[in-house]
Amino acid sequence: MKIIKSKDYDQMSRKAANIISAQVIMKPDCVLGLATGSSPIGTYRQLIDWYNKGDVDFSECYSVNLDEYVGLDITSDQSYVYFMRHNFFDAINIREDHTFIPNGKNTDVAAECERYDNQIASLGGIDLQLLGLGRNGHIGFNEPDQVFTKGTHCVDLAESTIEANKRFFASADDVPRQAFTMGICDIIQAKKVVMVVSGEDKADAVQKAFFGPVTPEVPASILQLHPDFTLVADEAALKKV
Ligand code: GLP
Repeated sequence: MKIIKSKDYDQMSRKAANIISAQVIMKPDCVLGLATGSSPIGTYRQLIDWYNKGDVDFSECYSVNLDEYVGLDITSDQSYVYFMRHNFFDAINIREDHTFIPNGKNTDVAAECERYDNQIASLGGIDLQLLGLGRNGHIGFNEPDQVFTKGTHCVDLAESTIEANKRFFASADDVPRQAFTMGICDIIQAKKVVMVVSGEDKADAVQKAFFGPVTPEVPASILQLHPDFTLVADEAALKKV
């Protein structure tokens, strides 16, 4: 595990964007595993800036997103499809048919999970997975549990996750109670994993995930065992380590 310490959110975002752009430059048809949440927005902004300057080209890239809420239509501005289009895809030259996100409207849960795992496999797996960190140590929507889940599955969101994510919705009651998420196995099979973490409210999660035991009670802790995992965090998030 490598830790890259940054002064603040902007510096964290630039460093993470540097790692991603290097991946895209070295392998133009790479598969990027992408994340939502406020943590990666600055990384996407920096990549858009470099794209606009002609320094990075996404025309051959593929992307697979970590997760999607169950039941939200893709036109809903809280859906992760909307988030990705709004914060990244619409501003770069990635092909729409090269971007993949679980279909939150598929009521056949087992079929959707199988379809998504097959999609990732048919792309040949993930070259670089970008992650944020939930306050309870979740990655994607893999919530604290007794076991590490393998492939894509449907989860009941933890109360603390609903509470943390309600800021994107009109009220906590509007936050979907379930989500599709890639499993831990999908994530750790990525060749390279980069996590962006910022702010003091993540300091406990960082301490537990990367300086405590590897346990499904703190899903991100499994990344301690990944051969190419880089944590890009700001000083506030690293306060307790
Ligand atoms: C959500 C997402 C995660 C993300 C987490 C942290 O629950 N499913 O992928 O990492 O929130 O979000 P933020 O970066 O906004 O703190």
